[in-house]
Amino acid sequence: MITKPKGTKDIYGVEAKRWQYVSKVIDEVMEKYNYNFIRVPVFEASELFHRGVGETTDIVTKETYDFTDRGGRCMTLRPEGTAGVARCFIENKMYGDNNQPIKLYYNCPMYRYERPQAGRYRELTQFGYELIGSDDPLADAEVISLAVNIYKILGLKGIKVNINSLGDAESRNNYREALINHFKPHIDELCSDCKERLEKNPLRILDCKVDADKEVMKTAPKTIDYLNKESKERFEKVKEYLEVMGVEYIVDPSVVRGLDYYNHTVFEVEADIEGFGAQNVIGGGGRYNGMIEQLGGPSTPAIGFAAGFDRLMLALEYEKVNIPVNESVDLFLLYVNDDEKKYAAYLTNELRMNGFVVETDYLNRSLKAGFKQADRLNSKFTIVLNSEMLENNEVKIKNNKTKEEETISIDALIYYLDENIIEDENCGCSHDDHECGCGDSCKCHNKDNNE
Ligand code: HAM
Repeated sequence: MITKPKGTKDIYGVEAKRWQYVSKVIDEVMEKYNYNFIRVPVFEASELFHRGVGETTDIVTKETYDFTDRGGRCMTLRPEGTAGVARCFIENKMYGDNNQPIKLYYNCPMYRYERPQAGRYRELTQFGYELIGSDDPLADAEVISLAVNIYKILGLKGIKVNINSLGDAESRNNYREALINHFKPHIDELCSDCKERLEKNPLRILDCKVDADKEVMKTAPKTIDYLNKESKERFEKVKEYLEVMGVEYIVDPSVVRGLDYYNHTVFEVEADIEGFGAQNVIGGGGRYNGMIEQLGGPSTPAIGFAAGFDRLMLALEYEKVNIPVNESVDLFLLYVNDDEKKYAAYLTNELRMNGFVVETDYLNRSLKAGFKQADRLNSKFTIVLNSEMLENNEVKIKNNKTKEEETISIDALIYYLDENIIEDENCGCSHDDHECGCGDSCKCHNKDNNE
């Protein structure tokens, strides 16, 4: 048997429906924040990630899926979305657009050759967004609060937001020096990767998984102490806006992020749920003012965020958040003879085009087995097509909940279904009190507003 590659997943059945529901909620929220959907290639020139994400990052040195195509070009499956979006921004001269800043979002698979475990995959899905063309601290706060609001709207309660600032180029250089001075006397205690990182990119030592618990890591200098006046003031502004927006956060100097492109604000969202496991960072982002220039575009400030979709789904499951999944059909059409079957073919098509979820039998089942199938599909109504009744333009429709049967004219069928199908009132936001802040995307909230 051929099995799926290590670190990948098949998403199907109810799980697939849950994924689709969550994607739909994300689409609705992104629309409210006026972000436009973007689709960039799954593979890009390897150079994009080397220059964009950074030569010394774990992602680029150890985790990319690289291949040479048949034309001899070095290609890489995207390990993240920001570099591709930045490339697209430059290539399509979006910087010339009158409509600034440019706000884009994506929801797609990424590829990282990591050691698979619960919550860590080789094919992972991220939804992420990038706000390109504004250096205003308000943009930083909005990007952070948007992440929080998505989790909130989905009904996830146990989240923690950790923020930090890496400062501008001057602050980062000062901090770099401080880190080299701190780690140099302890070089022998560090793993071979960190020995290499010391000169090339000492910041990366701080997110080393091998040396994480060593004393020398715990006593390392903190970014916040090396911010110059402007960077400090900027960070204060971001915090002020977050407070105005009611976003709860913790300033955590250990958040430095695993990619090279960040400056100023960086942040991570953690699942704060008992027993969730080691892979509890469910999203992360930050400002990357230098990347677009680094990739050959004009100097353009930018900030963004990406969430691990797989980890988000795990977190929702851990918290037992109710995700509404439609597991019923509106109508099941049964037939006995060939003429009735032909009519079933016509009627299913007609009703589906009018917006109903309609099923019929494709296995030439007996009527008894057909009724069983209708039950398995939780069909709200059943019709057994009958040639004699069809001649009179009539059908007998059964309400499977009340067990009542009615004979109605076929011309009135659409009206009848419209009137009698009661939508599932389950809101899915998991908030009993209807004070979830879900807004329009929450049916129960709407229901309250409408009453
Ligand atoms: P990142 O921190 O590398 O940032 O990834 C974002 C999120 O993707 C992580 O917080 C985690 O939830 C999820 N993730 C990462 N690797 C895996 C994996 N192997 N399996 C499952 N989930 C994973 C970025 O990718 C940046 N592009 C974020 C960004 C956008 N910064 C600015 N704009």
